[in-house]
Amino acid sequence: MSLNTIPSPCFVLEEEKLRRNLALIQDVSQRAEIDIILAFKGFSMWSAFPIVREYISGATASSLNEMLLCNEHMKTASHTYCVAYADQDFDQICEGSSHLTFNSLQQFERFKHKCAEQKVSVGLRINPEESDVETALYNPASPHSRLGITKDELSGGLPEGVEGLHVHVLCESTSYALEKVLKAVEEKFGHLLPKAQWLNLGGGHLMTRKGYDTDHLVQILRDFKTKHDLKIILEPGSAFAWETGFLKTTVLDVVSRNGVNTAIIDASFTCHMPDCLEMPYRPNLIEGSREVEGKKFLYRLGGVSCLAGDFLEEYGFDQELKIGDSITFLDMIHYTMVKTSTFNGVPHPSIGILTPGGTFKIVKEFGYEDFRNRLS
Ligand SMILES: Cc1ncc(COP(=O)(O)O)c(C=O)c1O
Repeated sequence: MSLNTIPSPCFVLEEEKLRRNLALIQDVSQRAEIDIILAFKGFSMWSAFPIVREYISGATASSLNEMLLCNEHMKTASHTYCVAYADQDFDQICEGSSHLTFNSLQQFERFKHKCAEQKVSVGLRINPEESDVETALYNPASPHSRLGITKDELSGGLPEGVEGLHVHVLCESTSYALEKVLKAVEEKFGHLLPKAQWLNLGGGHLMTRKGYDTDHLVQILRDFKTKHDLKIILEPGSAFAWETGFLKTTVLDVVSRNGVNTAIIDASFTCHMPDCLEMPYRPNLIEGSREVEGKKFLYRLGGVSCLAGDFLEEYGFDQELKIGDSITFLDMIHYTMVKTSTFNGVPHPSIGILTPGGTFKIVKEFGYEDFRNRLS
């Protein structure tokens, strides 16, 4: 398949790679005898949900909108966790959810009677204050975190009406980090486990990354489940869409300023690849390299927005870049599409799927109306 047939800019999901991840996730879920559901916040490309539904049957929503997407396109009630629920959304959220997790006891008290009326299974998000995540922006267990109830608030036991517990403290982590989290849950919240029916261990389990020890994951989950007689749920996002596609862009201009060359592309880091600025994260390219050593041509990659910092430091290339050349960013499916903005009116990349047979299908193209309709 030649990249030339794909429009630019375009997010391209490779179906074969998605299916490979889905098969691995399904296998873990069967071997560990747990439920693994998709976290929409990491991957919401609903044109691919018919494929996803061949392997798994549920999803987790973090807002009314994601809950509605789950009902419509995963064709099931969602596991819902919102950092805080708004009064005006709550009835609808209750109707479309099978499980509903609260981030504070105050919110639980406010809405518990509605959950009881709708027969939704209620959970509380707890914070075991244990995490291997080093970047503060992505660490839910950092000191004074607003995410999850700490042990001091639950010393009196599980409140009446609560059936489950929810923990999310990992990000792109290993099964060994999860093992430490499970220990911390036992130490700090062990007194709640006998009354709980389910434990949702959130996301951050990057089981589809090369080298992840899935046998160890299966073992610790089976052990924990048996020891505490609990239904276990995992809700990863990244693991589903990890290394399943790319963002194709094109060089629009090359500028040289005080000895630094910048290739300006038809996409933007702040609009379409925000993790590249937030983490900061340097994606691999098809055409060039993150390492500049030994490379003859060096270019900063510049976004097309006017944000001064919308660029990545120099990448190395074997050839001079010319206007019209492709720059293809790898592993650009998880968390990219869901986070895009139309800042500066920069056109949203098209969305397409590369089928296992090598055929490219455009799923969506964005135009002026899409930009206009989200503003007023
Ligand atoms: C509550 C919750 N569940 C699941 C996830 C998905 O995490 P990941 O995509 O790292 O697997 C997140 C990510 O922020 C989250 O906050």
